Amino acid sequence: MAKRALITGGAGFIGSHLSERLISEGYHLTIIDNFDPYYDRLIKERNLSGFINHPNVKFVECDIRDWDKMEAELIAPYDVIVHIAAKAGVRPSIKAPRAYQEVNVNGTQNMMELAKICKTKQFVFASSSSVYGVNPNMPWNEEDHVLRPISPYASSKISGELLGHVYSKLNDMRFIALRFFTVYGPRQRPDLAIHKFIKKISNNEPIPVYGDGSTERDYTFVKDIVNGVRAAMDYDKSMFEVINLGNHQTVSLSGMIETIEDVLGKKAIIDRQPEQPGDVRKTYADITKARTLLNYQPQTKFVDGIRAFVKWKESIGEESTIN
Ligand SMILES: NC(=O)c1ccc[n+]([C@@H]2O[C@H](COP(=O)([O-])OP(=O)(O)OC[C@H]3O[C@@H](n4cnc5c(N)ncnc54)[C@H](O)[C@@H]3O)[C@@H](O)[C@H]2O)c1
Repeated sequence: MAKRALITGGAGFIGSHLSERLISEGYHLTIIDNFDPYYDRLIKERNLSGFINHPNVKFVECDIRDWDKMEAELIAPYDVIVHIAAKAGVRPSIKAPRAYQEVNVNGTQNMMELAKICKTKQFVFASSSSVYGVNPNMPWNEEDHVLRPISPYASSKISGELLGHVYSKLNDMRFIALRFFTVYGPRQRPDLAIHKFIKKISNNEPIPVYGDGSTERDYTFVKDIVNGVRAAMDYDKSMFEVINLGNHQTVSLSGMIETIEDVLGKKAIIDRQPEQPGDVRKTYADITKARTLLNYQPQTKFVDGIRAFVKWKESIGEESTIN
C-alpha cells in the first residue's frame, strides 16, 4: 500500500523539493502551508504549481497555529509527518520574537499533538544549525550539548527539539530533528544571501556585504538535504535523534561572492556593511552521525550548486514580476 505523509511548509523552498521527491516515489501526500507573508505568496504558488494538482496530493491552506482547523481537516492515518513549516530567518526574528515563538514553538507543539491523535509513529523536524549559536567547538557535533543560541529563531528551534524529546518519551512516536546548514539551490528563499546576490549582481546593483567577508557558512545543496530528510523518514533504530545535515565544507562570504562572479561572468559591486546582530561568524557541520545513521553523503560541489541555481533563475525568466 502507498505510504501516507503529512508535509508542513510544502509551498516553501525545501518543502516543495521534498514533496516532489515523495510524489515521484508514489507517496500519498497531505501538504499544508499558510503562505506566510515573509515572502511573496506568488513565489510559493509557483513552487507548488508542478504538483498541487497531482492525484496523490491533497493541499490544505492551513496555519499551524490554528488548532481548530487542524483538528477539523487534518486527522488521518499518516505513516510519517515531516514538519518543515516555520518562520525562518535569523534577523527578522530579532524584530518579531513573539511571532517566532508562536509558530515555531506553539505551532510545532500543535503538530506533535496532531501526530499523537493520528497515532503517527515517525516525526521528522526541520531544525537548524543556528541552535549551536556561538559554540566555539568546530566542527559542530550533535553530542556537544552546549547550545549557545543568539537569536529568537535559534532558540525557537531548540524548543522544537526539546518538545520532540518529550513527545517521543510520552508517546509511541519516533522524533528525528535534522539540523540543516544553510540550504541553497533552485527556489531558494529570496531573503537568503545567495539568491539576493545573484539577482543583484545580474542587475548590476550593489550587494550588501556584512563584515569583511571572512565569515563562513557550511552551504548545503537542497537535493542533498532532501536525501537526508528522506533517509530520516525511514530511520527506525532509536526513538529520538538529533542529526546535522550539512556539507562538512565551509565557504567564506568572499569566496561565495567570487564563485557567483565566476558563474555569472560579472563583477559584484560591494556595499560594505557592519556585521549583523544574530549572525554567527562561522557554521561548520560534523556529519559523521548523518553518515552513520542515515548513510548521508552530500554530493554537490558549491560551484555546481550555484550553477544549478542560476540555471533555474534563468528558466523562470528575468521578466518575471516575482523573484
Ligand atoms: N533554508 C535554510 O537555509 C534553512 C536552514 C536551517 C533550517 N531551515 C529550516 O527549514 C525549514 C524550511 O525552510 P525554507 O528555507 O524552505 O523556508 P520557507 O520559508 O521557504 O518555507 C517554510 C514554509 O512554511 C510556511 N509557514 C510559515 N509559517 C507557517 C504557519 N504558521 N503555518 C503553516 N505554514 C507556515 C511558509 O509559508 C513557507 O512556505 C524551516 O523550518 C527552516 O527554519 C532552513
